[in-house]
Amino acid sequence: MPKVVLAYSGGLDTSCSIRWLQEQYGLSVVTLTLNVGQPEDLTSVAEKARRLGALRAYVVDARDEFVRDFVFPALRANARYEGVYPLISALSRPLIARHLVAVAEREGAEYVAHGCTGKGNDQVRIELGVAALNPHLKVIAPVREWRMSRPELLRYAEERGIPVKASQAKPYSIDENLWGRSIEAGVLEDPMAEPPEDAFEWTRSVAAAPDAPLECSVTFEAGDPVALNGMPTPPVALVQTLNEWAGLHGVGRIDHIESRLVGIKSREVYEAPAATVLLQAHAALESMVLPRDLLHFKQTMDLKYAELVYYGLWYSPLREALDAFMQKTQEVVTGTVYLRLWKGHVQVIGRESPYSLYQKRLATYDVDDVFDHRAAEGFIRLWGLESQEYAARRRAVNLSVGVSEER
Ligand code: ARG
Repeated sequence: MPKVVLAYSGGLDTSCSIRWLQEQYGLSVVTLTLNVGQPEDLTSVAEKARRLGALRAYVVDARDEFVRDFVFPALRANARYEGVYPLISALSRPLIARHLVAVAEREGAEYVAHGCTGKGNDQVRIELGVAALNPHLKVIAPVREWRMSRPELLRYAEERGIPVKASQAKPYSIDENLWGRSIEAGVLEDPMAEPPEDAFEWTRSVAAAPDAPLECSVTFEAGDPVALNGMPTPPVALVQTLNEWAGLHGVGRIDHIESRLVGIKSREVYEAPAATVLLQAHAALESMVLPRDLLHFKQTMDLKYAELVYYGLWYSPLREALDAFMQKTQEVVTGTVYLRLWKGHVQVIGRESPYSLYQKRLATYDVDDVFDHRAAEGFIRLWGLESQEYAARRRAVNLSVGVSEER
């Protein structure tokens, strides 16, 4: 029997997909579940897959790979889609694609399958990833094809003895990994409705956050966070710890109307405590060590980078080239940022770096000022030379200067 490797979360959609792929396509189903830091017990997820008829059920701990190969490169690019969303799901999909392809090749499977709907970005990310890594694999998207409504799906599951847990009847659609948690659907579909407290699991509300602040430090080396409070900490543990610290203090809730690639505006709620802290700390360090022109140029590249990751173009020459650029800029992004986590906010309270371009002797208004004030005069004259010439020409032909023309 030809084989399909299904990206399996253990949820209702992908559980029904196991049976559906057998019934509709006559395929032998191998499931793959990646540990990217979601809370589910993955041993029982694999057991469930086998119970539902999977030939084999792979579980791969991909947490370290996820943080090193996807999250940290995105952090170097300060990547937030539309300046807001830290790309939680967007970063995990190319990783899922990579592992789907690896298992398919190992199993000699002709097909891979995923549980994405036809309305989201995730289908694009997984399918473009698979196509880039192995163009011979064919992709099946059961949820996109079966066109069952929610009640129909529940009946489908019931008829086949597929367990529907109470948690699956929950009002929200969730995607979680180490970089954050995304919450969609239910009451959140009304952009006027404030997300209820039960939408959140990683973060306390500001009201419930401790009155006493938590002060901590993050040390970066060449753009990557390597230590907390001076203690060297490996990537996964570092992200997990910051999720706990910042989550406790209510840091990292995001409420965003997001422009999906498929043309839909959607209301997205996230909690991303570690991402919020690390992105802010990283940017604070960059602003101290990168010269103005590079810093500003990089900021436009950062947006580009976030956009292409969001659009599913991880495996693209543009991403590779931008990563090379980012890498170069990060040579000096070494140092420590001191932070206060308090009542929903993360505040930078200090920073230091051996590459700091901040020079007190230049910036000070005090007596030890060494800045050459007289040089400023000539600088200003030359800086404005072209504009002055331009204005002079306009005056010469009686055009106005410095006021915008009516109409
Ligand atoms: N809107 C976000 C994105 O496109 C989150 C997607 C969440 N995915 C999910 N299957 N629930 O990246």
